[in-house]
Amino acid sequence: MSLQEPAPLTPHASDTDATLDGILTEDKKKFKTCSQIGFYRRQKLLLPGQSPYYADLETVIVDKGITTLQIINQDTKVPLQLQIIPCESIFRLKINEISPLKPRYEVPDVIVKDMATERLSVSQRESGSIVLENPNGPYKIHITAQPFSVSVTADDKLLLSLNSQGLLYFECLVSPQSKSAILESDSDVTKDEYGLWREKFGEFVDIKASGPTSVGLDVSLHGFEYVYGLPEHADTHRLQNTEDNDAYRLYNLDVFAYKVYDKMGTYGSVPLLLAHKPLQTCGLFWLNASETLVEINTRAVPQSSLSRSVPDTRKQRAIPQTEVRWMSESGIVDLFLLMGPSPQDVFRQYAHLTGFQALPPLFSLGYHQCRWNYEDEADVEAVDLGFDLNNIPYDVIWLDIEHTDGKRYFTWDPERFRNPTRMQEQLKQKKRKLVVISDPHIKVDPDYSLYSQAKARGYFVKDRDGQDFEGNCWPGTSCYLDFTNPAVRDWYAAQYALDSYKDSTEVLFVWNDMNEPSVFEAPEMTMPKSAVHYKGCEHRDLHNLYGFYQQMSTFKGLIQRSAGQERPFVLTRSFFAGSQRYGAVWTGDNKADWEYLKISVPMLLTLNVTGISFCGADVGGFVGDPEPELLIRWYQAGAFQPFFRAHAVQNSKRREPWLFGKDNILLLKRVIEERYTLLPFWYLLFYQAHVSAQPVMRPLWVEFPKHPESFGEETQYMLGSALLVVPVLAPGVSALDVLFPGSGERWYNFRKYECMRGPHRKKIKVTLDEIPVFQRGGSIIPLHTRVGKSTGWMDGFPYELRVALDSKGFAEGELFLDDGHSFNYIRDSMFTHRKFALQKNVLSSSSADSKGKYQSESIVERVQLMGVKKQPLEVILHSSGVKTNVAFTYSAKLCLLSLESLSLCVSTDWEIHIRDK
Ligand code: NOJ
Repeated sequence: MSLQEPAPLTPHASDTDATLDGILTEDKKKFKTCSQIGFYRRQKLLLPGQSPYYADLETVIVDKGITTLQIINQDTKVPLQLQIIPCESIFRLKINEISPLKPRYEVPDVIVKDMATERLSVSQRESGSIVLENPNGPYKIHITAQPFSVSVTADDKLLLSLNSQGLLYFECLVSPQSKSAILESDSDVTKDEYGLWREKFGEFVDIKASGPTSVGLDVSLHGFEYVYGLPEHADTHRLQNTEDNDAYRLYNLDVFAYKVYDKMGTYGSVPLLLAHKPLQTCGLFWLNASETLVEINTRAVPQSSLSRSVPDTRKQRAIPQTEVRWMSESGIVDLFLLMGPSPQDVFRQYAHLTGFQALPPLFSLGYHQCRWNYEDEADVEAVDLGFDLNNIPYDVIWLDIEHTDGKRYFTWDPERFRNPTRMQEQLKQKKRKLVVISDPHIKVDPDYSLYSQAKARGYFVKDRDGQDFEGNCWPGTSCYLDFTNPAVRDWYAAQYALDSYKDSTEVLFVWNDMNEPSVFEAPEMTMPKSAVHYKGCEHRDLHNLYGFYQQMSTFKGLIQRSAGQERPFVLTRSFFAGSQRYGAVWTGDNKADWEYLKISVPMLLTLNVTGISFCGADVGGFVGDPEPELLIRWYQAGAFQPFFRAHAVQNSKRREPWLFGKDNILLLKRVIEERYTLLPFWYLLFYQAHVSAQPVMRPLWVEFPKHPESFGEETQYMLGSALLVVPVLAPGVSALDVLFPGSGERWYNFRKYECMRGPHRKKIKVTLDEIPVFQRGGSIIPLHTRVGKSTGWMDGFPYELRVALDSKGFAEGELFLDDGHSFNYIRDSMFTHRKFALQKNVLSSSSADSKGKYQSESIVERVQLMGVKKQPLEVILHSSGVKTNVAFTYSAKLCLLSLESLSLCVSTDWEIHIRDK
């Protein structure tokens, strides 16, 4: 096959295959709207201001820091139990039945460790309310008895209140034998308007073993008009007001070519909402894995209306308030209030609950080449060679479902992949990797050992009659592994052992797809809610956790296969809160269309602020054929997004980077090379996400939290705190209106070095060559001075430090280095973590963490200092007690001081003194 020619397409769907056309049929594109969801219709019957609940303050008990009391529905007289668990700046509020008919589902495995509770003292301020306070902290919790509400103040300022709209909703379990239940279940489903025991959607009927189990609560955010979070939606970063029948839906679904600017559920869910105003950020984490709907309503309220729990005598003026209404189909109310006060504090608080971003192996931060499908070994070899012939770096080639023997995961197509070990060996020699797909559905085939073993062990999800649930997916009739069962997870993890997974080698990594889970010809193309999991739990209770558990198990499998030595790489389509612990996420089946390039930015920003830094969108757009301009712009955006993978659907034209003509090859090569140049910076950002929970890709409001003009900005963003990236998101653009955020900041053109002066918003000319990137004054970025065929070839490559001075002549930055693939950085402190600072004309390199034992041989070869106002008289290096003059060049026009041909060891201390008098 010629490398310049698109390869012939040879679709080879087997008889049992469900085809792409199948997924595209109109029927399967039908997903529910809010008004088609029973628990939504039921909850909407409860109107604001009509709360039936009061708190019985006589029941308050404080034990080991946990405050417990009863709240009672005055209509039904049924009491609920409220627990308030404080932990520094986090408050957890749980509401559950006191003695439910059977235990209600409480989400396991997401919270990484029990919160160390703090003691709060209880004071009865006036009859009808109590106050919980920590004498050392700014926060107080005010509980009002009638109607029941809870407010949180910080330094006596009201921040948020719960049930102040009166929308606490709790359907206690009733036995099917109870009178109304029998009436409901006997009635014709079409008459069951509210879907208590049965709910109809199209041809599907959902029979509810436990009847109605829905929960809900409102939270008012006082003074907040900007709210973010709640992925995954193909929508704006800033959450919008929801209209009637249009809530943000959190329900993991396989939505092929999803609509943009839509609040329907897509592949993953993180029920974390962030609220921000200058000087205060808060988080609301609603720990519930069942289908969840969230309504948002931001409005202006007279300030005096805030004073219900805290008197305020100031003059009336309107201030913003955001009402958030959470509604879930089942489970309990389990809400964490993350009090910040800074965005960085909220990120840390959330990571302490749900875990930190896994540190990716370095190779996975390089460029990934994927398509559905690379057809056979010859195709893989040709594509791999194509990169070398065109001198384009890349790290990973991907194999989609057709690489298997009839969609039996963990196998190879015997014709197309006759010698997978040799193929992997060849990739290994080129220091490259292979990623293969492994979906959660298992073909029903008694001769397929994975199926027969899982069947014999009872490891599949059951239907409501206790039989293995069978659904249709790529292989035809399939069963679904019950990853909620720890024994299934262990067994599945063991399948990745090199001696179990035939012809796999240590360069093979994994892609978990279709794990919402996707079930063709099922309600909303997913598993029926009545399916039954481990310990008899209904799928309805834990639907949003299914993909999380598959990735968790795969992650464990890859660690085990190297006896705990190597860091895994696992990409998942479906995710939940905490998925950041297990690898990367991508935004699923987007389209080769400008709208999808544009929406990728807010989608990835939202994932980043909800803990999932390692994320990306299919570069080029999955469905369809991008025109060259779109493809180029997408590579330019993707190279500056955390997970950088090109992918394309079956039947699309081939689009390896060299298929678009000489000029375009150069543009694509250039931006991929730029990604590789910046790898030291990417690696550092991931290390910071890993240890301190700071997102890699940041919306401007995170870096400029006091500047309201940055709060609504979502077409440009920051990488870490140093780079401002402005992707081109529309065709034919020759200039961009760029916001240079903050005040008194300096911004330098990343490629041309000059300092941007002038207004806050400025028109910047653009060409097809590149997207604008600016470095923030005050930062130092580590780069590589040259690139190799893949990250593996760049081990030991020299570094450049790009120093951008702020208005006071100061700059700082870091570098983190280890072997890039093992856990030795934790186990044996085999890392180097350096700190660079420019202060008073001295650039210094010192240790950022004295525990680091890794002695890198690499050198800093070049230092570029931007914003140096005067040509120095001399530049002197102080290293190991020796002083040497350093040659330099200076451009007065650019205010650029360049030190070339240096040989500064990255692991040792040194200083460079710049003398201008
Ligand atoms: C759906 C995924 O979203 C897509 O990326 C993949 O190529 C197909 N499944 C086939 O496995």
